[in-house]
Amino acid sequence: MRIDIITVLPELIESPFQASILKRAVEKGIVEVHLHDLRKYGLNKYNQIDDYQYGGGAGMVMMIEPIDKMIAKLKADRDYDEVIYMTPDGETLNQGIANQLSMKGNIIILCGHYKGVDQRVRDLLVTREISIGDYVLSGGELGAAVLCDAIIRLIPGVISDETSALTDSFQDGLLAPPVYTRPAEYKGSSVPEILLSGNLPKIDKWREDQAYARTKNRRPDLLTDH
Ligand code: ADE
Repeated sequence: MRIDIITVLPELIESPFQASILKRAVEKGIVEVHLHDLRKYGLNKYNQIDDYQYGGGAGMVMMIEPIDKMIAKLKADRDYDEVIYMTPDGETLNQGIANQLSMKGNIIILCGHYKGVDQRVRDLLVTREISIGDYVLSGGELGAAVLCDAIIRLIPGVISDETSALTDSFQDGLLAPPVYTRPAEYKGSSVPEILLSGNLPKIDKWREDQAYARTKNRRPDLLTDH
């Protein structure tokens, strides 16, 4: 998979790819991530990428021309399955969307800033719009980092324990059950006896029950959605 991220602040999104799982995915060659500074395609001697909005109003709007040129340059070299625009009014990211996107070949992620992009970018160039939640960030970069993390960890080979990503919260529509590690007792608080029993079918059943109970308690909406 190849991910091209278009941003006015590349430095804001470099570090997530330089540590831990995402770093390993890049090093193993499972995913290629390229950051592109939109200012390289900015207009005039100031490398301008935004302008006042027609009709008046506070806040600048990112112009279509630099974005169009940047995307055209990328598309001249390869095909893309999606051009994703990060925006608070997009569809809210969930595990299902992450699963879908983890199966794509090449994607472009466009990070918005200021008041966002000229609507014609969304109408003509973007294929999908994603929000990471009902709150407004200063720009799309941190959202893009969240999206990339959610996608990349699902690509086979990225997480060494094959079943690990499959047992994440949400993968089966439920929250994950509680987990414990050593010591078996800490300051009077003990690990549930069943987990020490070695009885795998019973442990599986316990985990299923716990996952269901936790979901019912914390996120009943997930149960009615399924
Ligand atoms: N840009 C600003 N806010 C955002 C959000 N909630 N999700 C994605 N991109 C954004």
